[in-house]
Amino acid sequence: MKSMSIKVSAFATVSNVGPGFDIMGFAVDVEAEEMIVNLKEKPGIKILKSLGNKNQYPLNLEKNTAAVAVKKMLSFLGLNIGVEVRIKKKIVPGSGLGSSAASAVAAPFALNELLGRPFTKKDLLLFALEGEAAASGSFHADNVAPCLFGGFVLIREYNPPDLINLPVPKNLYCTIIHPQFSIKTSEARKILRKEYSLKDVTVQSGNSSALIAGIMKRDFELVKRSMNDLISEPARSKLIPGFYEIKEAALNAGAYGCTISGSGPAIFALSDSERNARIIGHAMKKVSDAYKRKNIVYVSKINLSGPVVKG
Ligand code: HSE
Repeated sequence: MKSMSIKVSAFATVSNVGPGFDIMGFAVDVEAEEMIVNLKEKPGIKILKSLGNKNQYPLNLEKNTAAVAVKKMLSFLGLNIGVEVRIKKKIVPGSGLGSSAASAVAAPFALNELLGRPFTKKDLLLFALEGEAAASGSFHADNVAPCLFGGFVLIREYNPPDLINLPVPKNLYCTIIHPQFSIKTSEARKILRKEYSLKDVTVQSGNSSALIAGIMKRDFELVKRSMNDLISEPARSKLIPGFYEIKEAALNAGAYGCTISGSGPAIFALSDSERNARIIGHAMKKVSDAYKRKNIVYVSKINLSGPVVKG
């Protein structure tokens, strides 16, 4: 076999989306990483060190989400070949923007392309989910599914996965502020309350259902009323200095909801135009800067492509 190579790109994702803990996520046009995958004759998976930035991802095959996903895929195919992976992270892991999920998606996507597409995207989800579980310690698809399929994805059920790709308003914009420190998803899951009252369950289901209705009806006021979360935000906001002030600044600047992206520390806000999204980003940054932590602001529409092959 000749050595074959491909370069792909995977995008960042906002997961949970307020009341949709573990069941909702969307992709944004912010590149999370670039990945080069090489096929080799000599069997074995190798995660190569990143050129430039160091220590951005584990080289250990059990812990690296790309390696775990590739291993599952090769064993499913009964293929004994060599696969080398090199990752150039554009967003650091522990961001709340699906960095580890991007690797878990990019690797099987790239390998599938190199092998002549033996799998559909739906099949690839199972490998990506295994990969993501290696980083987060749990099986959740709210980053990997939107990263793989693009768009706004609702996960009705995990076993087997039943996903619904929602039609999104064309003018739905997302502003993200990413304070430059890391939160490990596995740790951020441990601090969540394990039990909820019947009233909490009712309120959370009301909000998550209404959020979906708001997105589908393009009713931004309904989206705003529904962006309330009783699971992630109350516990994880404590990990993000200035969270409630940043949220207030976003809402005062006109956001249709603002909360933590995934397990944080990234915070996202929704709006209905690029101009408003930039104004909201400016307001969030002003407050966040006062906390003297470096931060990066992104403004994006919903990404609809999923991962792409780079020329
Ligand atoms: N739904 C996940 C969580 C997303 O909030 O823990 C983080 O990967």
